[in-house]
This record gives sequence, structure tokens and C-alpha cells, in this order.
Amino acid sequence: MQELTIRRPDDWHLHLRDGDMLEAVLPHTSRHFARAIIMPNLVPPVVDTALAASYRARIEKALPQDHRFIPLMTLYLTETTDAEDVVSGYESSAIAAVKLYPAGATTNSQSGVRDIETAYPVLERMAEAGVPLCVHGEVTDADIDIFDREAVFIDRVLEPLRRRIPSLKIVMEHITTSNGIDYVSSGADGIAGTITTHHLIINRNAILAGGIRPHYYCLPVAKRENHRLALRAAATSGNPRFFLGTDSAPHLDAAKETACGCAGVFSSINTLSCLAHVFEDEGALDRLEGFVSLNGPAFYGLPANDETIRLVRREEPIAVPASVETKSGPVTVFDPMFALHWDVAE
Ligand code: NCD
Ligand code: ZN
Repeated sequence: MQELTIRRPDDWHLHLRDGDMLEAVLPHTSRHFARAIIMPNLVPPVVDTALAASYRARIEKALPQDHRFIPLMTLYLTETTDAEDVVSGYESSAIAAVKLYPAGATTNSQSGVRDIETAYPVLERMAEAGVPLCVHGEVTDADIDIFDREAVFIDRVLEPLRRRIPSLKIVMEHITTSNGIDYVSSGADGIAGTITTHHLIINRNAILAGGIRPHYYCLPVAKRENHRLALRAAATSGNPRFFLGTDSAPHLDAAKETACGCAGVFSSINTLSCLAHVFEDEGALDRLEGFVSLNGPAFYGLPANDETIRLVRREEPIAVPASVETKSGPVTVFDPMFALHWDVAE
């Protein structure tokens, strides 16, 4: 039996939702993860620190009593965000970052930023105060092919932003292309990238080949195999600029299995097992801790967690539920399409 003890991990990009869904999904993160960057794309979105504080209180209330978990709150950047609210919220630790959604890019992003120029004054204040910006790196122009939207975002939005405000700390979230990997690896300091579990495992065939499979549909959409390989190389390279952001994004099955299904993969429950499998495949188990537990806090300027977790490789495949029940219906769990043997020992 193989074992691996690592610092307790954190998830640097997570959707917890609210209400019944929050209650159903939160324990699957808080069981193993110490902290997570909580996405603000609720309806209505979390646009100021007062809303972030009340959302944090709802998360803390939904937390199982024996779980210790710190939600790191984020604000949803709009064209009317108040820079002083952002800075004071960051300085009092009410928020950990601000999230840029290009308007229309993904689930509940209608209030996002249409013209990045309008956000520059707030972004400049954030740079001065050291507030990190998390970016959903896709353009939304109807004339840009959905598989090209990340690469075009780099040229049209990210690079001009980096030139204009080089001191702004930026996390390019859920990178899905080799273009994103190259951009983050080769840039000056102050940029990092998160990679999801599912993008290390699936390419676009999972969604489209042999039938349409809505549970593999997420945004940014999975790309070609060469991109998946670039993500795996980066995640397992030991490069401290890359760390885990699961982007676990639960939707009710009814909302995914329909003519116009929602984007999002729900993976919090088996993410660590999947990642141990991937890192083992790549001969990089010794680098798993950096990816899930060390690189993220270092970028955010936070200490790594003191506690540890133990991963154990079982002889027999471990059991993972196919779905999680909420009061409003089931949510399908990410199926990596291979048996999982790595288990988190409680
Ligand atoms: C996310 C969601 O459902 O909130 N969906 C997804 O496919 N990742 C939004 C997002 O992060 O893009
Ligand atoms: Zn997300």
C-alpha cells in the first residue's frame, strides 16, 4: 500500500452557490480542504463587501460542526465597483480577491464588465493595495469561436491589462489551453494560473464524441488533446505559478440535461482522488503537494496550512457516488472514466 501525507489543500476557485445547494455541496469541500476562494456569481452577484460578509455568514452556518474551513470571499467586479470598498474589504480580510467576468462569459455573468477600460481606475487602486484579480479569461464576442476565446482574451484583454498595470496581481483562472500555460509561464512576476481537475482529465471528445454528454460541459470548454497535455505538464511541473482551482460548479441535473444545459462540472467530492491518479500517472506524486497545498497560498501571500491529510492508494477501486442529493434534486459527480484508487484517509 502506498501512502502520501501532504499539507491540507486549498481550492483556489470554487462555486458553493447558496441555500439548499450550498448545504448539499459544502461538506464535500470542507471535509478535505482548509480554505477556498469562493466565486461571487450568485443571483444577484456578490458585488460589495456587505454582500460578501452576509454570504460568508451563510457559508459558515451551512458548515458541518466538526469541519474547519475558511471561505475566502471575492467580489464580483462590475462597471460601478467602488474601489474604496474593495480596498477596505481586502485590508480587513473581508475579501481575498476580486473577480473579473467579461459580461456574458459564463453562468450568471450578465453583470460583468463590458469594457475593461471602465474598470482601470479600480484595478489601479487594487494594484496599489495588493488586491489580487481573478480573471475568467474568455472573450465573449459572438464572432469569436468558442474554442478560441481564451487565446483571444490573452491578446485583447490580458496583455493590454498587464502592460497598463504591471503591478496588479492576476490569477488567470481555469486555464484550458497551451496558450494560457505559455502566457502565465513566460510572463513577468505577479501572474499565476489555476487549473481544474477535470481539464487535466478530459478533452473535448468527452463532451461530443459518441453522443452529447452535458456533465462534461463547462466553461471554459475543454479543448483538444494537445491542450490537455500542456495543462498536465504545467500542473505536474512543480512551477509555483500553477495551482489547483477545481472550479467545481454544481448545477441540478435537470438544468444540465436539457436542450440548453448549464456549464459546470461538479468535482469537489472526488477531486483529490482524481489528482493523485493524474500525478501518479505523470510520475509526479512528489509534486502534488505543491500544486494543491503550497503554490496557491504562496501566491496569495497566505501561510500554507499546518495540518496534513493522508492519501492512501487502495488495492480495490474506491466507491464514489454517481450523484449528490440536494433538496431540489440530484447533482451528478464528475466521472473521470477510470477507476480511482487513491483515497483520502479520514
Ligand atoms: C461556472 C458556474 O456554473 O458558475 N461554470 C463553469 O462551467 N465553470 C462559471 C464559471 O466559472 O465559468
Ligand atoms: Zn468557475
